[in-house]
Amino acid sequence: MGLTRNFLVTTVTILLAVNLTVNACPPSDRAALLAFRAALNEPYLGIFNTWSGTDCCTNWHGVSCDPETNRVADINLRGESEDPIFEKAGRSGYMTGSISPALCQLDRLTTLVVADWKDISGEIPACIASLPHLRILDLIGNKISGQIPADIGKLNRLTVLNLADNQISGSIPSSIVNLNSLMHLELSNNKLSGEIPSDIGKLSMMSRALLNRNQLTGSIPSSFANIYRLADLDLSMNRITGSIPAQLGAMPVLSTLNLDTNQLSGEIPYNLLSNSGLNILNLSRNSLGGNLPDVFGPKTYFTAIDLSYNNLRGSIPKSLSSAKYVGHLDLSHNHLCGEIPTGSPFDHLEGSSFADNDCLCGMPLRTC
Ligand SMILES: *[C@@H]1O[C@H](CO)[C@@H](O)[C@H](O)[C@H]1NC(C)=O
Repeated sequence: MGLTRNFLVTTVTILLAVNLTVNACPPSDRAALLAFRAALNEPYLGIFNTWSGTDCCTNWHGVSCDPETNRVADINLRGESEDPIFEKAGRSGYMTGSISPALCQLDRLTTLVVADWKDISGEIPACIASLPHLRILDLIGNKISGQIPADIGKLNRLTVLNLADNQISGSIPSSIVNLNSLMHLELSNNKLSGEIPSDIGKLSMMSRALLNRNQLTGSIPSSFANIYRLADLDLSMNRITGSIPAQLGAMPVLSTLNLDTNQLSGEIPYNLLSNSGLNILNLSRNSLGGNLPDVFGPKTYFTAIDLSYNNLRGSIPKSLSSAKYVGHLDLSHNHLCGEIPTGSPFDHLEGSSFADNDCLCGMPLRTC
């Protein structure tokens, strides 16, 4: 009897112990998380207070594990979010410190979001490029400096690379074109210099490429036009030279193209203006010349066309009157001349849309 009871107790104890180890996160993952936490300082909300106890898979704010393996899969720490934590504190997130390379011990990590904490500095640990399962890398809105890891292209499952609103310098690594799952590339508002890799068009899954507000030079790679899914391309506020590749006008799903505030020259490819899928086109503040092509028609549907501050000559094409819709049109600060066409797309426009040209006339400007 005693023996059986002992046997039962021992069995139950063993079962419980096994069960605990299975459900808890591995001590090495926990240690990596604690090292990651130790390099950060979040003084106002206490989000890391939840990072205690042995099981990092349960109730650690922003951490989740793969239910099968109990390995840490996601770190999701957003400083701007709907989370009641922020509402209660009446403030958005703030953190200092840096991103510890200890993270790279988490070799089953699929999501790393450390976004909008304003003051996290230091560099992106180069070893991040060796996290084979990483799908989302989002470090937007911090003060991260240094360069993008040179072998970032090894992350062949990466779908989102968002490093916008930081202080990242150096050039865009050439290996980036190997990210063959990449859908969103956001590098806006950094200090990136050098040229955009000419074979960027290899990123065939990409639907959004935001590289605006950097110091990029060189010309616009025509290979962008090979990216069938590309809907949103923003290269504005850089130092890009050369002409606009005509191939961009033939892109099937491109709906927003912002190339404003660069040093682009040459003429505006006619098919950019006749592309009925393109809804927002900003080419303002470049050195584009030539005439406006007369290619508008009943399929023309623009929420906004801004061609201001260029060297456009000639007259405003009459075909623009037949457009289905033109929300915002800005042709100011060019060398246009002649009569402003009449018609529904023009009825709501103000004089400022046409200001500072050579000799435009008619409504809403002076009569001809
Ligand atoms: C186009 O870009 C210019 C310069 O970057 C900016 O000032 C302007 O507001 C933009 N136009 C539209 C319609 O967004």
